[in-house]
Amino acid sequence: QQRNYIAEVKKMTGGGKYKINTYGCQMNEHDSELLAGMLTEMGYAPTESDKEADVILFNTCCVRDNAERRVSGNIGALAGLKRSRPDLVIGVCGCMMQQEGVAEKLLRLRPYIDLVFGTHNLHRFPQLLHNAIASGHRVVEVDQSTAGRIAEHLPQRRANAFQGYLTIMYGCNNFCSYCIVPYVRGRERSRASARIIEEARELKADGVKEIMLLGQNVNSYGLDVEGELSFAQLLSELDKVGIERIRFMTSHPKDISDELIDVMASGKHICHALHLPVQHGNNRILQSMNRRYTREKYLERVEAIRSKVPDISLTTDLIVGYPGETEEEFEETCSLVEQVGYDSAFTFIYSPRVGTRAADMPDQIPEEVSSRRIQKLIALQKDVTHKRYANYIGQVHSVLVEESSRRDENQMAGKNEYNITVNFPGDKSLIGQIVRVKITSAGESTLRGERVE
Ligand code: SAH
Ligand code: SF4
Ligand code: F3S
Repeated sequence: QQRNYIAEVKKMTGGGKYKINTYGCQMNEHDSELLAGMLTEMGYAPTESDKEADVILFNTCCVRDNAERRVSGNIGALAGLKRSRPDLVIGVCGCMMQQEGVAEKLLRLRPYIDLVFGTHNLHRFPQLLHNAIASGHRVVEVDQSTAGRIAEHLPQRRANAFQGYLTIMYGCNNFCSYCIVPYVRGRERSRASARIIEEARELKADGVKEIMLLGQNVNSYGLDVEGELSFAQLLSELDKVGIERIRFMTSHPKDISDELIDVMASGKHICHALHLPVQHGNNRILQSMNRRYTREKYLERVEAIRSKVPDISLTTDLIVGYPGETEEEFEETCSLVEQVGYDSAFTFIYSPRVGTRAADMPDQIPEEVSSRRIQKLIALQKDVTHKRYANYIGQVHSVLVEESSRRDENQMAGKNEYNITVNFPGDKSLIGQIVRVKITSAGESTLRGERVE
């Protein structure tokens, strides 16, 4: 049915140019690839310029308030363009639109928006765009319930020919008390493993060298479907497909199983990189966050992984300024960071999200306290990163070459299997290939080396 609308839009408009502005996580980036795929089939070509575009989409994020503010500002900047070109279609989609009352508020503030749809309506984009263009009226569709639907076989236009996202499950059931994601992405829904494996084969046939499996909590893959594979089993099956590199995110520490660790240890293509968000180092706060593990349990899992996959590169997410966080409790996050030795960490100041439990908690932490704490934590992680990276010097890493440096086109940049950017002298013909690079020095967030062989 959406196929017909794709053909209709193509006939009606004769194609044109599109621009998609994406905010937030890999889920959103991948959703934008699906939107780009649908637009491509409608005869549209990508552009970087607002002035050239016939369709401008904002794929929004609402996990923290700074992401929200940026979107609203950037849509505001289009007011003049829309006045001079009334045919321009401005659409807003993504997580922010799924929040109660937010779409209404945005439409009041920016009345020239033509199209609004939610995360659960993404697959209906061709029809929605068609209706907006054909009627000349604004179209709004935000479903609250997903009723277990999973849209399959959507076209996609990958940002990178040799890297592919592969969604294995949608939604989240965890309801961490600070987090809005379960409200805007719905309950956990696993895709059928047979379909995931088929898609992996398609990606391989298409020349993809690296896939990133996506889910808010990949470790609970399959639990919502009777008789489905576990995540460890799925990973083991995907390993057999023979794509050079497999990554996945995100893993919830509460259910990293021994079985999964074994598959990571024995797999041929599974990268030894694990993003394992701990959020905090203090047990009282972890409990209030509803994370369902303790500091001790987390450290035990880290030990279990390191004992079987000694070269594992661990990264994490950390929140400072959670309601009620005392100085001593914050210090426990710092000590955990040192104890684990992460290769890198994303650090966030807690941002209250309307409708979540933590937003109504007493003792919200003042901005200046949170800022001071995050500065300290960032400085600490910088030291830890420095020590970890120093150990890589002298090793030979395989690097998937992504691009040449903006400053010097004889400098190439790619990722090693630990997901760390490695720079080395080379030429553009290497883009998309995996090469061997001997690490010679370490920067703040990158490594540098020279090709060997
Ligand atoms: N599903 C993933 C995380 C998705 S959100 C997981 O559970 O690990 C990505 C990160 O944003 C989280 O790990 C958390 O550190 C941060 N985050 C989520 N809600 C936040 C909030 N209200 N304020 C600050 N950071 C938040
Ligand atoms: Fe948010 Fe927690 Fe779900 Fe991650 S596991 S998306 S932090 S509720
Ligand atoms: Fe943001 Fe939605 Fe991802 S809220 S972090 S884009 S799931």
